[in-house]
Amino acid sequence: MHRIERHPILSVPVRPLVPFTWKGQALEALEGETVSSALFAAGVRIFGHHPKDGAAQGIFCANGQCSQCLVLADGIPVKSCMELVRPGVRVEPVEGLPELPRIDPRDAGPAEPRPIETIRVPVLVIGGGPAGLSAAIELGKRGIETLVIDDKHRLGGKLVLQTHRFFGSIDAVYAGTRGIDIATRLESEVRSFPSVRVWLQSAALAVFSDRTVGVLVEGRRYVQVVPDVLLVTSGAREKNLAFPGNSLPGVYGAGAFQTLVNRDLVKPTGRLFIVGGGNVGLIAGYHALQAGIAVVGLVEVMPECGGYKVHRDKLARLGVPISTSHTVVSANGREALESVTIARVDGKFRTVKGTERSYECDTLLIAVGLDPVNEFFEKAREFGLPAFAAGDAEEIAEASAAIFSGKIRGLEVARALGHDVGEISPDWYRTADILKSRPGATVPERAPEPEAGVFPVIHCNQEIPCDPCTAVCPNDLIEMDETDIRLLPSFIAEKGGKGCTGCEKCVAICPGLAITLVDYRKDPEFPTVAVPFEFLKETLSVGDTVVVEDTEGNALGRVEVGAVKAIKANDRTVIVKVRAPRAFAKRVAGIRLQAPETSDPLGRYVERTVDDTIVCRCERVTAAEIRKLIREGARDINEIKAVTRACMGSCGAKTCTPLIHRLFREEGVPESEIVDQPKRPLFMEVPFGVFTGQGEERDPHGRS
Ligand code: FES
Repeated sequence: MHRIERHPILSVPVRPLVPFTWKGQALEALEGETVSSALFAAGVRIFGHHPKDGAAQGIFCANGQCSQCLVLADGIPVKSCMELVRPGVRVEPVEGLPELPRIDPRDAGPAEPRPIETIRVPVLVIGGGPAGLSAAIELGKRGIETLVIDDKHRLGGKLVLQTHRFFGSIDAVYAGTRGIDIATRLESEVRSFPSVRVWLQSAALAVFSDRTVGVLVEGRRYVQVVPDVLLVTSGAREKNLAFPGNSLPGVYGAGAFQTLVNRDLVKPTGRLFIVGGGNVGLIAGYHALQAGIAVVGLVEVMPECGGYKVHRDKLARLGVPISTSHTVVSANGREALESVTIARVDGKFRTVKGTERSYECDTLLIAVGLDPVNEFFEKAREFGLPAFAAGDAEEIAEASAAIFSGKIRGLEVARALGHDVGEISPDWYRTADILKSRPGATVPERAPEPEAGVFPVIHCNQEIPCDPCTAVCPNDLIEMDETDIRLLPSFIAEKGGKGCTGCEKCVAICPGLAITLVDYRKDPEFPTVAVPFEFLKETLSVGDTVVVEDTEGNALGRVEVGAVKAIKANDRTVIVKVRAPRAFAKRVAGIRLQAPETSDPLGRYVERTVDDTIVCRCERVTAAEIRKLIREGARDINEIKAVTRACMGSCGAKTCTPLIHRLFREEGVPESEIVDQPKRPLFMEVPFGVFTGQGEERDPHGRS
């Protein structure tokens, strides 16, 4: 079984088992588990074969946005990432085109279509993630009737996947608290307001020209919601990347990986490779290590990683090689991923011949950025429905920024409804901008002098919005310009006659694990260094010899572990104490975890001879097919669609349209010449019967 039995941050609940079958073989899921996670837990990665070319299919988004993970559940095609395992369900792979289900007369629906249920509500919030929940809290505080809908089984959005402590402001957005715990807090606050209703497993289907919003409730009941104001907080979808072998099972999005690992506690891989050095890729690598998964390497095409340097540094210190100015040349394997080939790129992002290296891995995460899910907002604006957007649906940024923008938008919505919310402070808008800001300048590190007593060393040397360290020092010795939390904190040796006591609170709370405490009091030549560590306490023992590293992950030497401290007050951050020579004690920033040989390349590089660079995953249309049409003069995506079927798949072209635009760019076609295809009116596939009332007593899958 591929399940995570123990985790340093997440508790592993005991859940009843649910029997089901896969290709006739008896398996067991955990209660409340999706079909895709149950299959991954059983070691199944291939969910069927495509009708066009027989290519193996696996998961890609695990978020209901694509249809790669389609399986048959009791004969009906379902997205396995959204479908919960029901006792006794017969799950089969989709081999080619699935047969149309036989119509059971009991499922034929009422003789007369039932009238569509319509409800009016002052505010409809689409998306129960950080932005939506924060907005709902502001609306709830004012007693404004609000309906929050979310297509998942629980509230919190991507927060429920985040085991790390959050950056940002401790006052404004719970900085220093783990994402999973922020989700719980926001949810319980939302649920405390009687004026706020929550519909889970309820997906918005469309915003119509009559200013109504179609909602599919629990996959079976169609309801038209008529809001006075719409707030769109539907988050983001992951960008895709085109390279040979990109559609092999085992190549999927970082969000899908975090869903499997952190939400469902499934261990989908033993060896992982990552493409993309933004925060999403860096954090996914960290989460993999916490789950006991080897991270073979990470490539980033730019000369520097785009994510926070503290995220990059902690991954490097744990022993993950990060190759900047590198890209993926191909993902290799016959039915599923077996290896990845990477190469260096030149100043024009062309691969440099002779620099190729291949690594054995069974999973390649694509973490190359996010696009806003803003279709509902755009449609609402087009049809004159008063609408607001917040969080990633408005602008891609950190979840801490989403929490704060949701709070502001909640007040703006209340004001739009005529409620007196007073003036929204300009400081709030400024805080929102600060939280959204990209990482700033990197400065040389400064450690306190003289080398005596005890003091923290702050290894955070890049401007990012973050301030928890300034709030926890009992003697107020870590300071920062209060007007701008992007500026770097600094330690002052003494204030009001008080100095550092070595309490370690700053070490434990830093979200970037970028503060250590150096204590010269017992032995000035071999001071003790307290290092934060977010792994199981048993990973290290007193007396172990470990390699310690500087901020960037360069080895400083081998030292002995003197203590491993796990106390409740530190909220699952273990403090490891090592004795290091005075010569480098202040430079110690972390402990290497992963053995260097984990990242040894294969002796030869693997060359993929077929160019199966897939642009449209649903219809399996290659880059070569589309490029040919562009070179022949095609500028209208409708034309490309008519010839190749690209954009005609079940994801509604959400996955391939950005890649087609990229191909146009690569061929030198300006955006102004590209004619886009019309967006589909419905956001996702819906069985016809639900519009007529079929399936309310019996759901569209024939379940009672
Ligand atoms: S990838 Fe789904 S339609 Fe092209």
